[in-house]
Amino acid sequence: MELNIVCIPGDGIGPEIVKEAKKVLNRVAERYGHQMKYTDILMGGASIDVHGVPLTEEAVATAKAADAVLMGSIGGDTTTSPWYQLPPHLRPEAGLLGIRKALNLFANLRPAVLYGELADACPLKKEISAQGFDMLIMRELTGGLYFGERKTVEENGIRKAVDTLTYDETEIRRIAVKGFTIAMKRKKKVTSVDKANVLDSSRLWRSVVEEVAKDYPEVELEHMLVDNCAMQLVKNPAQFDVILTENMFGDILSDEASMVTGSIGMLASASLNDTKFGLYEPSHGSAPDIAGKDIANPIATVLSAAMMLRYSFDLDKEADAVEAAVQEVLKDGCRTVDIMSAGCRQVSCSGMGTLLAERIR
Ligand code: IPM
Ligand code: MG
Repeated sequence: MELNIVCIPGDGIGPEIVKEAKKVLNRVAERYGHQMKYTDILMGGASIDVHGVPLTEEAVATAKAADAVLMGSIGGDTTTSPWYQLPPHLRPEAGLLGIRKALNLFANLRPAVLYGELADACPLKKEISAQGFDMLIMRELTGGLYFGERKTVEENGIRKAVDTLTYDETEIRRIAVKGFTIAMKRKKKVTSVDKANVLDSSRLWRSVVEEVAKDYPEVELEHMLVDNCAMQLVKNPAQFDVILTENMFGDILSDEASMVTGSIGMLASASLNDTKFGLYEPSHGSAPDIAGKDIANPIATVLSAAMMLRYSFDLDKEADAVEAAVQEVLKDGCRTVDIMSAGCRQVSCSGMGTLLAERIR
């Protein structure tokens, strides 16, 4: 089959890790008889440097015409990069928010898994990490505070800023359906996270989620307040299967969840719309401090490419092969510096990509 993929190398370590993911995908194509067609587009700082804006209409049109988008990372050092002297709508992150909205990528899947081989990196107490965990955060991605009306005004000499948190029931229903659908393929539990003791948007969230739950009688539903969830993630992460939540809560909780795995360089993500189309990117950022040094961990991007094979192309066998290659390389004791531990062999970013590609069967 022909896979028409748009790549966004982006900024910082982005170009390096996307290069390694392509190496692995090319091997998959060879082994399984597919044709990969890649088209690069600019986004974030890379686009600002060339076009003066973080995302052009042309880039959006190119992405729309593809089957899927594979992204590295965007953004720079917010204190030193000139990109952050620009007004907010022209900064790198505006490109990412822009493409999410333009492609209607409302469902953001962020798996957080504790890898057995990397359990030592988990910052939690041994008795907690020993239970292991495998959760998926289903974050709403095109609504809420991120896309509500905002303004900064001055009233009677006092500066005032307003951000608005809005959800309508259709936005909540479609993400809830995604959450329950994926729970059916997992451990059949949904924890819906909100702040229903304070926010109207959360009370609506809760009632719509309960309506949707009626269509999935096999799935256990529980509601949890977001502050409690933040606590439970470090106290007992094994209790979670699918965490279903709105945009801002999902942003914060997914960083926390990835931190407790101890290996953020390993975590993939997918942003999906109502079709098979998706944008796939590692959960980590652009790490400008280590860019260009060939030491970044490409595994999160490689695993994002596996999610792309699975969700956008229905190529489950190929996705399994990529995930198996990752497991095997870890088992063999190969590590990039971020996950290095005593007795293992340290490899570079490109070295890791090569090892993974070699293990595609
Ligand atoms: C993320 C990032 C983005 C977000 C930033 C870069 C705008 O933190 O993907 O989690 O807040 O959504
Ligand atoms: Mg974030």
